[in-house]
Amino acid sequence: MITRRDFLAVSGAGAGVGVGAATGVVPIASLGMAASVLGARPRPASQPASEGDAHRGPCVIASGNGLAAVTRAMELLDQGYDPADAVVQGVRINEDDPEDNSVGYGGLPNEEGIVELDASVMHGPTHKSGAVASLRHIKNPAQVALLVLRRTNHCLLVGEGALRFARQMGFQEENLLTEASRLAWLKWKANASREDFWLDDAERDPPAGKVWVSDGPGKLSAIDPDGVKRLTGTVHCSAVTRAGDLAGCTTTSGLSWKIPGRVGDSPIIGAGNYCDNEVGSAGCTGRGESCITNLSAYTMVMLMEMGKTPGEAAFEAARRMVDRSKESRLKGADGRPRFNVSFYALRKDGAYGAASLYEGSFAVRDRDGARVLPTVPLYSKGG
Ligand code: GLY
Repeated sequence: MITRRDFLAVSGAGAGVGVGAATGVVPIASLGMAASVLGARPRPASQPASEGDAHRGPCVIASGNGLAAVTRAMELLDQGYDPADAVVQGVRINEDDPEDNSVGYGGLPNEEGIVELDASVMHGPTHKSGAVASLRHIKNPAQVALLVLRRTNHCLLVGEGALRFARQMGFQEENLLTEASRLAWLKWKANASREDFWLDDAERDPPAGKVWVSDGPGKLSAIDPDGVKRLTGTVHCSAVTRAGDLAGCTTTSGLSWKIPGRVGDSPIIGAGNYCDNEVGSAGCTGRGESCITNLSAYTMVMLMEMGKTPGEAAFEAARRMVDRSKESRLKGADGRPRFNVSFYALRKDGAYGAASLYEGSFAVRDRDGARVLPTVPLYSKGG
């Protein structure tokens, strides 16, 4: 059975593959705050250096599932395209991919089995943003968000209005639920509660040593129960051109099995995506509610403006989130968060960095090519 505890434990972990990385502690004095102000929460001991802080020049970074995205976005930058077009076309690869259940086509649905997508784009040179939230039936919400930015006087369209706008822009409606997503949802629904009229796996008494012959279309009983625990996933992508122009994009199917209408951080400017052409671009993946209440993307850009490197800004945003996670349901017995968030920061000069609450990864396309690197985690799941 998927409990609320399971939900919190895995929420936000889908942003990338787990990659081991050193754990460390930030000396509180170096952050200019008194320990008594921050409270006695467990925290890492030092912040390992972020190799991306030394990079200069054109660069694209993304969440760990964005290797193809950063590669495509840099191709477009090399061809002279606007950075907003580059990041949107980059994440389109994830949106179109039925195997990526964090975003677009194949994204995991809400509690009613309907895929609802969120996305935003922010463009540095014009300081404009566009976003859509709870968009159904359109697999490329980032493209719709870019058209909100370019063709309207608004920043955010939601639900039915966003869908009508997408139709007017010529987007085709389609069923975004793949067979794998439908079966994962059905598995979750059947096992979500013993108080409802759906039989849990344990209540179905399958014939010993046999498999179900008539179990509906699809092989529900073959779904790995752990598969339904992967509850959030998102793609963020930030780019900077040779001239120092920036753009950022975040797109997602949001928290799986969410209450219909739930909007995460991805379409909220300042929360899951933010860009200032004088400073840098930043974004987040993971538990969106925490990114909203901490304005994490804006925080990273603000910290870079105050002089922190991208690596330091990402790590500090992660640390602030932990310090502000006050609800006991969000913390384990050891006081550590029971969710994960990853933070990505790119500076105007091409320096970059990424951090996370627990181990994570991010993709980069810089002067050394495209690759996936570990984020700097505040905590190690191993200890
Ligand atoms: N960060 C994605 C979401 O929570 O919707």
